[in-house]
Amino acid sequence: MAELTTLASPLDVGGVKIRNRVFLAPMSGITDEPFRQRAHAHGAGLVVSEMVASGELAKGRAGCDLRIRHSGLPVHMVQLAGREAAHMAEGARIATGEGADIIDINMGCPAKKVTGGYAGSALMRDLDHALSLIEAVVGAVSVPVTVKMRLGWDESALNAPMLARRAEQAGVSMVTVHGRTRCQFYQGKADWRAIARVKQAVSIPVVANGDVGSPEEAATILERSGADAVMIGRAHYGAPWIAGSIASIAGGVSAPGIPHMPQALADYVVSHYEDMLSLYGIESGLRQARKHLGWYLDRHAADVSAEQRKAILTSFKPGEVVAELCRVFADGAHPDSLRSAA
Ligand SMILES: Cc1cc2nc3c(=O)[nH]c(=O)nc-3n(C[C@H](O)[C@H](O)[C@H](O)COP(=O)(O)O)c2cc1C
Repeated sequence: MAELTTLASPLDVGGVKIRNRVFLAPMSGITDEPFRQRAHAHGAGLVVSEMVASGELAKGRAGCDLRIRHSGLPVHMVQLAGREAAHMAEGARIATGEGADIIDINMGCPAKKVTGGYAGSALMRDLDHALSLIEAVVGAVSVPVTVKMRLGWDESALNAPMLARRAEQAGVSMVTVHGRTRCQFYQGKADWRAIARVKQAVSIPVVANGDVGSPEEAATILERSGADAVMIGRAHYGAPWIAGSIASIAGGVSAPGIPHMPQALADYVVSHYEDMLSLYGIESGLRQARKHLGWYLDRHAADVSAEQRKAILTSFKPGEVVAELCRVFADGAHPDSLRSAA
């Protein structure tokens, strides 16, 4: 797998050095600061903030500050969504004021509440408007600007190569392509070969994304797309170490910090839980943490009893949740299931 070793090498994104080519995808409601810090500590080459609505950011609305704040990682990359050039430019200025090293523009989100406002992947239906946003952001900040897109709106409009080429001409430093159309949402299989048409259209780095979760899949998406790097999203559910472990396997070294023993897994899950409570406060934090706890259970303690699962996922008492997590993960999880997940 010659492609796999490529993933261990650094990548230059508009002058910002990225340590390897296996990235954590931005996922709203998931890749918050505690999650990104873990992915980075495990060795992910690059992590990206959840998307931030530029209109909300420009108006100073509550909640945006947590999404854009600098978490102390070497490369701080903030993703903006929106449809108003002035808001996108102002959002980019605010994010760089908070220390962003790279600004990413979301042109891939398929959610109706985003595309209904003509943002996210809806921008792929009007490339002139998409370009006006790109130009506004590139003109507003001196850090590199990148764009994340899909293959197009639907099968009849696969215009990602055109958008990528125009974005490059406007000064964009890297594009990421999810190998699905907007109308596919998350259905079917990502088309890795279709990403090759974007790679052929530009000379800036292209990142391939969609349905990757193993070193073999990472090597195959690179081989089929000819892309320069890979971005991984949902495979991280219950396993924030996936990008880092693939980068480490590519480099022939062992990944830092993967919890291989039950007690280590228990400590890991509890510390993730506690970090979320301290970031969001107890009331909001314990609700937001539940999806992560559910994924940890699904992935590493599939035989947990229904009562224990319910207690963990519905309790409003953090002390009870922590005690139950320790019981389930320290006593019930199997190191074998951990190894296969790594
Ligand atoms: C819950 C969820 C939230 C997402 N949020 C964002 C986002 O904020 N910005 C973005 O560009 N993409 C977002 N995505 C898309 C992912 O970044 C990625 O492109 C997609 O999940 C395909 O990659 P995967 O198959 O590795 O998961 C999200 C995906 C999911 C499942």
